[in-house]
Formats: sequence, structure tokens, C-alpha cells
Amino acid sequence: MIRAAALEVMERAYAPYSGFRVGAALRGTDGLVARGCNVENASYPVGTCAERSALAAAIAAGSTNFDLLVIATEGEAPAAPCGFCRQALSEFSSGGTLEIVSVTTRGRTARWQLAELLPHPFGPGSLGPAAAAAAHR
Ligand code: THU
Repeated sequence: MIRAAALEVMERAYAPYSGFRVGAALRGTDGLVARGCNVENASYPVGTCAERSALAAAIAAGSTNFDLLVIATEGEAPAAPCGFCRQALSEFSSGGTLEIVSVTTRGRTARWQLAELLPHPFGPGSLGPAAAAAAHR
């Protein structure tokens, strides 16, 4: 169960500075579920979000098309992915059709499509036809 995967990997977050643990599970259209958690650093900007950790794990495992991202947090309200992560996910979600579900350990849930969270994305086509042709899709 992909929700369980996101909640489970949240437990492995390295978040000693913010105390805000995040887990992410990204499902490929090939069925593969890649997991990621946030990994903070004493040099704060070096830290990485859970969503981009999961994206990197998925790409490394050979998936490039995704249909669902589940985010898990312990906060009061479900967390939407940050702007950096929206942009990173957008590279692999043509049309912004990726479904995003955010769950909390208190049982709250929110859902979005990536296109709602990142309208008018900057994508491969923005760089011109050569870049659009070079991109994976
Ligand atoms: N964080 C994520 O992992 N994903 C997001 O979309 C937003 C924020 C992490 C980064 C940092 O480790 C902590 O949450 C507080 O910002």
C-alpha cells in the first residue's frame, strides 16, 4: 500500500533542524514505488526534500513516468510539495496529470493534480524544440 510506504519512509527522515519529517512514495506507471525522505544538513540549503529524494530513487530504478505521489507528514494539515519539488516533478509529468495525495499521521488527507499546484510550468519546450526533443517524453 503506497500510503503505508510514505508513512514508513517518513520515519527515516533526517530532520534534526526543522523537526519536520516528510516521507514520499512515487508510483511509476510500471508499478514501481520509489521512496524518499527529507535529508537535512548543517549547511541548511544543502538539505533535500522527500519528494525529490523519491524522484531521484525512481529515476535511478528506471522509472520515468509517474501516476501518483503520496506525501506523509506529522503536521496538523496535509503538506503540499514545495515549489522546487513541483518544478522537479513537472519535468516528468507532461500535462501536469500527476496525482498528489498528502496524508498526515492524524488521518487527514488532501489531493491535487500537479497542474493545479504548478500552472504554466517551465518545461523542456520552454527551452526550444531541441530541448523538447531531448527530454524523456
Ligand atoms: N520538506 C520536504 O521534504 N518537502 C516539501 O515539499 C517541503 C519541505 C522538508 C524540507 C525540510 O527538511 C523540512 O521539510 C522543513 O522545511
